[in-house]
Amino acid sequence: MTFTIAIDGPAAAGKGTLSRKIAETYGFHHLDTGLTYRATAKALLDAGLPLDDESIAEKTALNLDLSGLDRTVLAKHEVGEAASKVAVMPAVRRALVQAQRAFASKQPGTVLDGRDIGTVVCADANVKLYVSASPEVRARRRYDEIIATGEAADYNAVFADVKKRDERDMGRADSPLKPAEDAHLLDTSEMSIEAAFMVAKSIIDAALNK
Ligand code: DC
Repeated sequence: MTFTIAIDGPAAAGKGTLSRKIAETYGFHHLDTGLTYRATAKALLDAGLPLDDESIAEKTALNLDLSGLDRTVLAKHEVGEAASKVAVMPAVRRALVQAQRAFASKQPGTVLDGRDIGTVVCADANVKLYVSASPEVRARRRYDEIIATGEAADYNAVFADVKKRDERDMGRADSPLKPAEDAHLLDTSEMSIEAAFMVAKSIIDAALNK
């Protein structure tokens, strides 16, 4: 048996930072499952292949090497947009979910973050967290991140992107983003990442000591 922590939520809610901090604290393996969708999309883009051909995208997803996912290469906005399109295809999701489940069984424990971890990928996870924040706050965080890298950004355009991504992630037929029934809800709109971490830690400690 391993100990699995499932962390879901919309784009830019702070779940990535929180997941990495949790994995580091408990010495668990971490998988940002968004990177698996991003890597599939980037492989298609790089090869000049269409983003909406399910059988080509499925083959690409089946060939993915989880150990080679590079966050800096995959962070680009266009890759995120393409990933959210690729993620609507059931065959792609099946292929990636299989790889994600294999990762989730690693010892001594794992943290997986994404959109459907508590509802589909690890429905039996020991702890489920749903991390959210208002679209305005998430857009502001994304905007600040872009500005901090020295690039130019327009808040209204970033806000429109956040809303569009939410609609696609929450509105798709296969595994839409939603909290699992037994997830702990963590609204980080008015909470620092440190405060969110402390809440998460007390939930995880309680589950570990059961
Ligand atoms: O978290 P992210 O921005 O890296 O995710 C990129 C896209 O991948 C996102 O728009 C939806 C998709 N995704 C998904 O469908 N299921 C997951 N478990 C993780 C990400």
